[in-house]
Amino acid sequence: MNSNYIAFEGIDGSGKTSIIENLSDILNSQNKEHTIVREPGGTSVGEGIRKLLLSHDYQVNPLAEALLFCAQRSQLIEEVVLPSLNNGVVVLSDRSAYSSVAYQGEGRGLGYEKIYQLNDISIQSNWPERVVLLDIDPEVSLSRQQVADRIGSDKVEFFQKVRKGYLKLAEEFKDSFLILNAENNIEVNIEAICNWLEIDNCK
Ligand code: TYD
Repeated sequence: MNSNYIAFEGIDGSGKTSIIENLSDILNSQNKEHTIVREPGGTSVGEGIRKLLLSHDYQVNPLAEALLFCAQRSQLIEEVVLPSLNNGVVVLSDRSAYSSVAYQGEGRGLGYEKIYQLNDISIQSNWPERVVLLDIDPEVSLSRQQVADRIGSDKVEFFQKVRKGYLKLAEEFKDSFLILNAENNIEVNIEAICNWLEIDNCK
């Protein structure tokens, strides 16, 4: 395996979680030590912030939203991600700082560069080494969703901007990004990920 810190990204309903579960089963079958973290969340502080961010009970302004994502991320990096990586444990991250660049930077219009810099500070420049981007048309992904949280229930136009943000990131960081069509059969995408991450004996 050629990387230890891998993020899975995509708009709501792109199927990141099933991909991560499949990959985790493969790593388990090889006794490869790994941990799965989710953002927002992954620590007790982070899970508290998650409730503030996603509940329909709060009206969070865009900048406060970006800062709350950064706060939970700073806690997660120090408490879980860096200690795991330092112990040679692979980290599979369900979303990462790249989500904020796409959602808050492009989607909310706070600025791609500004949100990139804010996140760089929050994570002390520890960006994921590899990013799997599950790309999908928002019209399709939104129709797959059952119960949407506050951010996930935004309009299709918002998710079109988020998707644009992701594609811009993938273009800027070509060497770290793998773009997959989220509508592909899951086995096809798992095989592509295994090849890209050089995971041996992938089923
Ligand atoms: P999540 O629980 O991962 O939902 P999903 O299963 O749809 O991926 O994420 C919650 C929501 O928070 C989702 O709408 C994406 C949004 N989000 C941001 O806007 N910025 C961020 O930095 C992160 C991590 C998530």
